[in-house]
Amino acid sequence: MNPKELIKEAFLAREKSYSPYSNFSVGAALLASNGQIYQGCNIESASYTPTNCAERTAFFKAVSEGITSFEAIAIVGGKKEEPVDFCSPCGVCRQVMMEFCDPKSFKVILAKSEEEYKEFTLEEILPLGFGPKNMQDNSAID
Ligand code: THU
Repeated sequence: MNPKELIKEAFLAREKSYSPYSNFSVGAALLASNGQIYQGCNIESASYTPTNCAERTAFFKAVSEGITSFEAIAIVGGKKEEPVDFCSPCGVCRQVMMEFCDPKSFKVILAKSEEEYKEFTLEEILPLGFGPKNMQDNSAID
């Protein structure tokens, strides 16, 4: 996995952001286990509630094409016309990651640029998360 390449794709995805209400544009690039990269941007709505985050857009694009195994996601975002700061995924997006990713190995990359980024595992940003394993037994908690 090349973080720089994934971050570059996230910046490209951010250019597509539809965010006229918040003026906060976000891009994500999701690396599937088969090497494919899925871009996603945030998509807002005049009625606000249907807003979809960049991360979920990327996941839903991939899953809707039959891809359900993932390695990493890069996220870039911030107010338009301002330099980007680290943009941390919301709780709903973390939960969607938990559905499809191994929390111990899935990498979440928050970037300001291709050079400046922080890398976390899903488990670090969603400790004691509830996922598909918990529906079978409690072995997810160790
Ligand atoms: N947003 C994302 O797309 N991803 C995040 O990680 C945080 C928030 C979007 C939702 C909304 O369109 C805008 O950013 C402001 O919350």
